[in-house]
Amino acid sequence: MKREQWNSQFGFLLAAVGSAIGLGNIWRFSYMAYSNGGGAFLIPYIIALLTAGVSLLLLEFAIGHERIGSAPLAFARINKKWEWLGWWSVIFVMFGIELYYNVIIAWCINFFFYSFDLSWGSDPNTFFFKEFLQLNTDPANIGNIRTPILGSLIIVWFLNWIIVFRGIRKGIELANKIFMPMLFLLTAVLVLWAVNLEGASDGIRAYLTPDFSKLSEPKVWIDAFSQIFFTLSLGFGIMIAYASYLPSKANITKYAVLTAFINSGYSIFAGFAVFSVLGFMAASQGKPMADVVTKSIGLAFVAYPQAVSLMPGGNIFGAIFFLSLVIAGLSSSISIIEAFTSAVVDKFNVNRKHLVTLICVTGFLGSIIFITQAGLIWLDIVDHFLTHYALVIVGIGECLIVGWFFRTETLRKHINKISSIKIGVWWDYLIKVFVPLVLGVILIGDLYIELKNPYEGYSWTALILIGWNWLLLTLVAAFFMAMQPWKDDSHKASGRTEH
Ligand code: PHE
Repeated sequence: MKREQWNSQFGFLLAAVGSAIGLGNIWRFSYMAYSNGGGAFLIPYIIALLTAGVSLLLLEFAIGHERIGSAPLAFARINKKWEWLGWWSVIFVMFGIELYYNVIIAWCINFFFYSFDLSWGSDPNTFFFKEFLQLNTDPANIGNIRTPILGSLIIVWFLNWIIVFRGIRKGIELANKIFMPMLFLLTAVLVLWAVNLEGASDGIRAYLTPDFSKLSEPKVWIDAFSQIFFTLSLGFGIMIAYASYLPSKANITKYAVLTAFINSGYSIFAGFAVFSVLGFMAASQGKPMADVVTKSIGLAFVAYPQAVSLMPGGNIFGAIFFLSLVIAGLSSSISIIEAFTSAVVDKFNVNRKHLVTLICVTGFLGSIIFITQAGLIWLDIVDHFLTHYALVIVGIGECLIVGWFFRTETLRKHINKISSIKIGVWWDYLIKVFVPLVLGVILIGDLYIELKNPYEGYSWTALILIGWNWLLLTLVAAFFMAMQPWKDDSHKASGRTEH
């Protein structure tokens, strides 16, 4: 069967940007910036973007485009030995990150509706943890399924299903053509509204005032690199699949640079809204800024609702905020389903529509553990292990495989031939040495912290049974998939260039 293609390269750009801009841009970035020295964080962040970010994004685009395949096929076309790495990335992302990511989008749908009558009342903290999640502290005590979340979870999976079911052009490309302009518009409304609130300037000052002393802390650098990694959807197998749907002549370098800059530009821009609101809240409660900034989930579901309650016309502001999160989230979550779908279609040539339905039903069922009363704990542990270890290991693997067992030169020549911006030999060195080295240091640093103290004080049993196990099981599944026979010999072909 002929490989489907994007309608236009612009459509591809929107889809890549849609995948990159997600929940992570809005609150993860803001919190990271604040806790890592405010404006000074932008220095390591931009260095990470320009060194590891752009070069890895280019690598993923190049692998997908030159080898013409989703992650497993593309790697199999480099060498059959490495097919498992492609499978691992699409499997742990689909049956890990995607499952809880959609649950967070579901919460946003609930909170979108709660905004209208400020259902969280005067104590959003108690509301979120005790009433909405009814959180248990023991991960083994999963209790009941939270029915209000079940309803919105069904909506989220249904939307995912309908978009991916319709295919690349009529589904993903079209959805992003609607979602992205909408998201930019809604975000602009939020920023303009927020910067005019009382106290906003204090918030912005806290956001941007550089604390250069922080630059000597390794953690700040680790956070900057891992944020760039997550935010550009690197190591997910997504960008490889998306690039495989481009026509043979495509301006790869230009789109990698644009995707990277639009994504980070969006984060920095949205940060103004987040911090203005926090500044407003600090001012209206007479508290210092440091007391109102909370970590990721608390920021969106506790601090924001509180601010919304204090703001004139806040319910509309809240509704726009949660709607923006839903849109940003959906355009990312469909990209994961596509990465996995295209992997299975490439290998087994099954009916795409049936497959998408099966994946979404299975995904929905798998998500259910995250909407139980222990859901947030499971989410926290799975997220920690997958984003800290699995993504980074895939990133290192990609660099080493292409850099040392294949030839970066082949890919570089390929993209230079078709792109308007030419890249030099420096890229080979970044991929061969610099990026894997940096990621390796991050991995070792993280492991060291991991083994010293149990993450967030959870029991070792919970961490092993949920976190480590999730890594292990997805890895086993990846090897299993890699061992299955191919539908035909297409994986033996090489890419667009011989080497
Ligand atoms: N880039 C996304 C973000 O920042 C990460 C992501 C991509 C998450 C795809 C899920 C699915 O949120």
